[in-house]
Amino acid sequence: MDMRLLVGRYDGRVPRYTSYPSAPHFRAVVGDGGHRDWLARGGRSGAVSLYVHVPFCRAMCWYCGCNTRVAKDDVPVHAYAGALRREIALVAEAIDGRVPVARLHWGGGTPSILPPYVFETILGDLNQFFDLSPLAEHAVEVDPRGLAEERIEMLAAGGVTRVSLGIQTLSEPVQRKINRVQTLEQVASAVERLASAGIASFNADLMYGLPAQSVADVTATIGEVAKLGPGRVSLFGYAHVPWMKPHQLRIDEVELPDAHRRFDQLLAGADALADAGYRRIGLDHFALPEDSLAEAAEAGSLRRNFQGYTDDTASMLIGLGASAISETPDGYAQSLTSIPDWQRAIFAGRLPVARMRALSPEDRLRRSVIQDLMCERSVDLELRLAEHEYEPDHLDECLARLAGPAADGLIAVDGRRLRVTDRGWPFLRSLAAAFDAYLSPDETRHARAV
Ligand SMILES: C[S@@+](CC[C@H](N)C(=O)[O-])C[C@H]1O[C@@H](n2cnc3c(N)ncnc32)[C@H](O)[C@@H]1O
Ligand code: SF4
Repeated sequence: MDMRLLVGRYDGRVPRYTSYPSAPHFRAVVGDGGHRDWLARGGRSGAVSLYVHVPFCRAMCWYCGCNTRVAKDDVPVHAYAGALRREIALVAEAIDGRVPVARLHWGGGTPSILPPYVFETILGDLNQFFDLSPLAEHAVEVDPRGLAEERIEMLAAGGVTRVSLGIQTLSEPVQRKINRVQTLEQVASAVERLASAGIASFNADLMYGLPAQSVADVTATIGEVAKLGPGRVSLFGYAHVPWMKPHQLRIDEVELPDAHRRFDQLLAGADALADAGYRRIGLDHFALPEDSLAEAAEAGSLRRNFQGYTDDTASMLIGLGASAISETPDGYAQSLTSIPDWQRAIFAGRLPVARMRALSPEDRLRRSVIQDLMCERSVDLELRLAEHEYEPDHLDECLARLAGPAADGLIAVDGRRLRVTDRGWPFLRSLAAAFDAYLSPDETRHARAV
């Protein structure tokens, strides 16, 4: 079948499955909703991972879908850091014990915006309330534009082992249309200076589907970026959701590539990355074979979480900061998104939780199937059903939904074993959606799948 027909058929509006159930199905809670108990229980089951959200940037990129805002100076950042420190203490108190931490990830927004002594103070608090000695990875999202030397020293002194650099595109005409102008020299200088400071592992964030972007722009950017030697590359399709992110209205929709052009960019980008020696990981990540993410994919231990794909195996991920999401053995909990509300809750001595989602046995089963498809691109349904103590035919209704994709060559079905084909991987989200019990047919809030 013609790929163009497939795009029309399977480019639905479906979640990215960084969680299951997906975030729109979390429910508002009163008080801490029992999150204190979830943290206490999760803290007793071994090492945890921490995610710290820093929702500030110096300027707004018009495509941005992250939870962030512009801070012209450091005043709001200081106020935020004060509340964050209180939150760290509150969470640690709920866990009751200096629990070991396997991974620490700072995301945003732009965590490299933090003034060095603020970063140092927060890190000091984390170290006081948690045991950071087993830390296997300490990662920070960094904006390479104008990355000052003192920020690099701050990251190195804090023991950062990996950075994610937002690059998106190196095409200047496209950069102008998204309000994010950055030269290759700026990126290369950041990479070089970080490596000299001892932070040699880095991820490059790239995007396709941006206004006026072409296949040639995508492949040229990949060619230049690959020369810088990132261990990992993320190639994200621009999610245009102006109903959720009104600043995206500044992007002229007429200039956005249509579904077919986006698809061509994705395939050309994936090919260019393969030519540069990168393995495709799950949906949108690529890694050099010697990178731990590629090794985890090979070993079948890759996982999907709110940061995308990870080789983290900790039993609990604690999200700190406004809008951050925690993943506990009991379920998901998201903090208040509005910074003033989040601060008020914290200074009233409450965990700043806004929405939660406890996992039912059925959720756990479907989550494991969706996780297998998103990470391994294959699943043995009978194995998962037996593990979760369900009858072998329990998910046959979902299986029936895959008859069309199977006939179109996107997924190979052998009894109750599924394997996404080379033709099918760009449609991974739509294939996984067959197992989503909450997806309504008129779902429109998500960005398109491809
Ligand atoms: C929170 S940003 C972190 C990096 C840092 N703030 C910067 O931009 O350099 C994480 C990444 O998400 C991706 N991203 C942001 N908005 C997006 C959107 N609307 N659709 C797809 N990817 C997006 C970009 O690749 C971005 O680098
Ligand atoms: S892409 Fe990064 S720098 Fe740009 S607005 Fe979003 S979080 Fe900030």
